[in-house]
Amino acid sequence: MIRPNAQPLIRPSVASLHPYVPGEQPHGEGWIKLNTNENWFVAPGVLHAVAAAATSDLRRYPDAACSDLRTRLEARYGVPSARTICGNGSDEILTLLIRACAGEGDRIAYADPSYSLYETLAQIQNAAPVPVPMGPQWELPVDDLIAIDAPLTLVASPHAPSGTAFALADLERLAAGVTGVVAFDEAYVDFGGVSALAFIDRYPNVVVVRTMSKAFGLAGVRLGYAFGSAEVVDALYRIKDSYNVDRLAQVAGCAALDAWDEYAAVNRATVTRRDAVADTLRNRFGWHVWPSAANFVLATPENADAEVIALRLKEERILVRHFARPRLGRSLRISIGSGPEMDRFLDVLGSIVG
Ligand SMILES: Cc1ncc(COP(=O)(O)O)c(C=O)c1O
Repeated sequence: MIRPNAQPLIRPSVASLHPYVPGEQPHGEGWIKLNTNENWFVAPGVLHAVAAAATSDLRRYPDAACSDLRTRLEARYGVPSARTICGNGSDEILTLLIRACAGEGDRIAYADPSYSLYETLAQIQNAAPVPVPMGPQWELPVDDLIAIDAPLTLVASPHAPSGTAFALADLERLAAGVTGVVAFDEAYVDFGGVSALAFIDRYPNVVVVRTMSKAFGLAGVRLGYAFGSAEVVDALYRIKDSYNVDRLAQVAGCAALDAWDEYAAVNRATVTRRDAVADTLRNRFGWHVWPSAANFVLATPENADAEVIALRLKEERILVRHFARPRLGRSLRISIGSGPEMDRFLDVLGSIVG
C-alpha cells in the first residue's frame, strides 16, 4: 500500500530493533526441555490452589496491589510489603525499572554477555545500552561499571548464562560506588548464589529483582517481584499497569510460597544433580564446564560444534540452548531437569559425541 508523504508508523528505535528471542517452547509430547531454565517440579498444592481459584470470581479484576502475596513475601524475606512490588514475570519488573530510571538517551549499563533482554528493553526505551565486557573467568567488571555510573545498572547475580556466583563484597562495592539505581537480578539465587537483599536497607539505590519462574516452578504463570527503597518501589507502582498480576498468578504465587520446604528440597536435589552432570560432562566427554550457582550449566564441548550438538539433540526431542553470540557460540547452556531427564540427556549425548 502506498502512503505518500506519510509519517513513519513506528518509532525508528522500534523499527530497527532486534527483538529478544526467547527459548523455544515446543509443541507436542515427549520433549525434554533443558533450554529455558524452568523447574522440572510443581508443588501439588499449587495446582490445587489454582484449580480451586478457577471460579466465577475470574470475572472480577485481580487485587492491583497483590496484598496476600506481598504479605507472604514480607513474612518470608522480612522486607516491609510497602517496599515490595510484584510483576508479570521479573521481565515486567525490569521493564518498569528501565522506564522509571532511564529516559531517552540515558545509559543503561550491564555486564556483557548477560541476559540479552536488558539490551532489548533499553533499545525499546530509546535509552543507550552500555554493555561492559566481563572478565575472562566471568568476573563482574565492577570498576568499569562504577566508572560508567549509569542511571541504571543491571546485574544478573548469579550471572546468566555462565552461572557464576559473584562475591558479595564486589556486589556491595558496586552498590556503594554507583550513584544511579543498581538492580541485582537474582533469578537464580535460590540455587546457590549470594543475595544482595541486605543491601536494600543500606543503599537506597539498590533493587533486588526475583522471579518465581525458576526456583518456584511458575514460569507459566508469569510472576516476579522486587524489593528496594520506598523511593524506587513507589516509582514502579506509579507506572505499572493497574492489574499487572492476574488472579490465578497471585494464587499460584501464594501457594508456592506456602510450599517453601518442598521447593527447597527439590532445589537442593537439583543443585546436587547439577554438580554431578557437570562432572560427567567434564570427565566422560572432556567438556569445559563453568562452575555454576544456578539451575543450569554453561558447557563448552572440546573438538565439536556446539550448535551441531544442539541440533542433533533436538532431533531426539531434547532442547538445550545455543547462543550465536560473541563468547557464547562455542558453548551450550543446559538446564538441570529431573533425574530421568538428565540420564536420558547424557545417554543421547553419548550416542552423539561418542
Ligand atoms: C537472568 C534472568 N532474569 C530474568 C529472567 C526472566 O524471568 P521471568 O520469567 O520472571 O520473566 C530470566 C529468564 O530466563 C533470566 O534468565
